[in-house]
Amino acid sequence: MGLIPQSFIDELLARANIVEVIGARVQLKKAGREYKACCPFHSEKTPSFWVSPEKQFYHCFGCGAHGTALGFLIEHDRLPFPEAVEELASSLGLEVPREAGAASPPRRQSESLYELMARVAQFYGEQLKRSERARQYLTQRGLTAETIERFGIGYAPNSWHEVLKRFGASDEARRALSETGLIIERDRASGREGERYYDRFRDRVMFPIRDARGRVIAFGGRVIDQGEPKYLNSPETSLFHKGRELYGMYEARQTRAALKQLLVVEGYMDVVRLHQSGVTYAVATLGTATTAEHLKRIFQLVGEVTFAFDGDRAGRAAAWRALENALPEAREGREIRFLFLPEGEDPDTLVAAEGREAFEQRLKNSALLLSEYLVRELGERITTRGADGRARVAEVARPLIERVPQGIYRRLLIERLAQAFGFQRTPEETAQLLGLSLAEGPAEGPRRALSAGRGSLVRQAVRLLINFPQLAARVPGSHDAALAASDEPGAALLATLLVELREQPAQSTAQVLERWRERPEGEHLARLASMEALVRDAAAAERELSEALGRMLAAAQRRQIDRLLEKDRAGGLDRQEKLELQRLTSELARSGSAGPPH
Ligand code: GTP
Ligand code: MN
Repeated sequence: MGLIPQSFIDELLARANIVEVIGARVQLKKAGREYKACCPFHSEKTPSFWVSPEKQFYHCFGCGAHGTALGFLIEHDRLPFPEAVEELASSLGLEVPREAGAASPPRRQSESLYELMARVAQFYGEQLKRSERARQYLTQRGLTAETIERFGIGYAPNSWHEVLKRFGASDEARRALSETGLIIERDRASGREGERYYDRFRDRVMFPIRDARGRVIAFGGRVIDQGEPKYLNSPETSLFHKGRELYGMYEARQTRAALKQLLVVEGYMDVVRLHQSGVTYAVATLGTATTAEHLKRIFQLVGEVTFAFDGDRAGRAAAWRALENALPEAREGREIRFLFLPEGEDPDTLVAAEGREAFEQRLKNSALLLSEYLVRELGERITTRGADGRARVAEVARPLIERVPQGIYRRLLIERLAQAFGFQRTPEETAQLLGLSLAEGPAEGPRRALSAGRGSLVRQAVRLLINFPQLAARVPGSHDAALAASDEPGAALLATLLVELREQPAQSTAQVLERWRERPEGEHLARLASMEALVRDAAAAERELSEALGRMLAAAQRRQIDRLLEKDRAGGLDRQEKLELQRLTSELARSGSAGPPH
């Protein structure tokens, strides 16, 4: 499906009211211009969760949770971003438009494909009731009737045209069936008589694959007893992209208990059996490696993930792939672990044999942290000792560490490697050895700022703009170039904010934040928005912003003057530079001594 246009998100946030969205889920009490409640994200007795209708933003002073109406749906209802948009839109009676993408089907048509899938899933469910053999197979695999019901497991009868006959009465219906991958078109060259299509799934136990909203988007079918292939999946369709979906995600989200972690396993049966045993946070990739997209989805929901793999060769290869794709998502506050199972066991057999408690104990005690797993793997791959070995480790580790975002986590990982492989140097030296920079990225910035009170002038200005985006229109464009050229940390971000907000004004903090959701600085901005505003009214904010900008510009001018004077002493200035020095000095004199002591 095509992307959701940003302009629609903007419109959505302009129309939505965060107080209603949250109020429908949490008991809110009015408190001045805002609303408060006991925080739904952590347990507390006195309210520290605030909702601001002006900013269209919520923030908990207890646990730090914060975000927009969309962010709330993502965190609270545990919806992936596109589904949160759908949810908010449908509550306002709006249809979500999609940007034309490769082969994106019109929405109305997809909707009927969903209906078709639901009807076929129901049909498979009914067929299971009639097939003694299929039911017996599932019983023998240890599944209860309740589990079968919960996962909507069914049975595709042993026929070449049962689905075709029941659901493909017209040309249009057959086209729809074919689009969902439920029927397959015969090779025309084969010149066979009779029907043009046949059923894809025959005599198989059927596992419906659901999207985050619980709609059936594909099936996985397992042979009963022996046969090839053991599992047959729906092909990629307009509804189903297997690199994105996780089997069991919908069911995991349905459980009452707060979802804190996910366990990623390899098979359908593993998920089903784990859920039945009470490990309701298990999900599976669908016969593919864990993709970056999977990881994104996972971390939209939880901060902790464990991958369980077979201890055999294939399992180790799959684990390594997962590690590579997990590195870009690694950061402080997230836990990524790897569990290797004893040879010959999979989570299904293991949890059946030892029960939930022992299995969870195993998760706790035997799963390796990403850093530990990395150290172990590197140690096993590189057997050379001494300086040569260290150089090899550095060579292999470098492209991996490069995938980790700059920040505290990257630093810790480098330290861990240094320690394990005897680099025995400071992190800076190790980083240098690895050819990597330890420069602080946005991930680390805000943390420092919080302890630094109001922070730098740039930070103050950004914070004011985020809280009062209308102010951007009042800042003269003549400042932009100087800001963009400033080498102060954050100045470029401030310049971008100003330019964008002037071009496309925003009515609320929420709108600005959603425009930045996908950008690296987005989270940084959200945190600035959730710091209690020191200035409450727009007039005071405007004065403060103009003062902060004035001081920044003066400081930038002074730095430029210093550079020019320095150059003058060293070797002289050309005509152009002399003129600039003159201009800067007189400008600075005119603007007075508003700047900070130099
Ligand atoms: P059983 O316990 O034997 O029912 O299967 P499992 O769930 O333990 O699966 P297994 O560990 O054999 O394989 C893991 C996953 O890989 C399965 O759930 C499927 O998604 C996929 N898979 C396994 N075999 C096949 C196959 O023959 N074809 C395809 N396309 N996928 C398969
Ligand atoms: Mn199995």
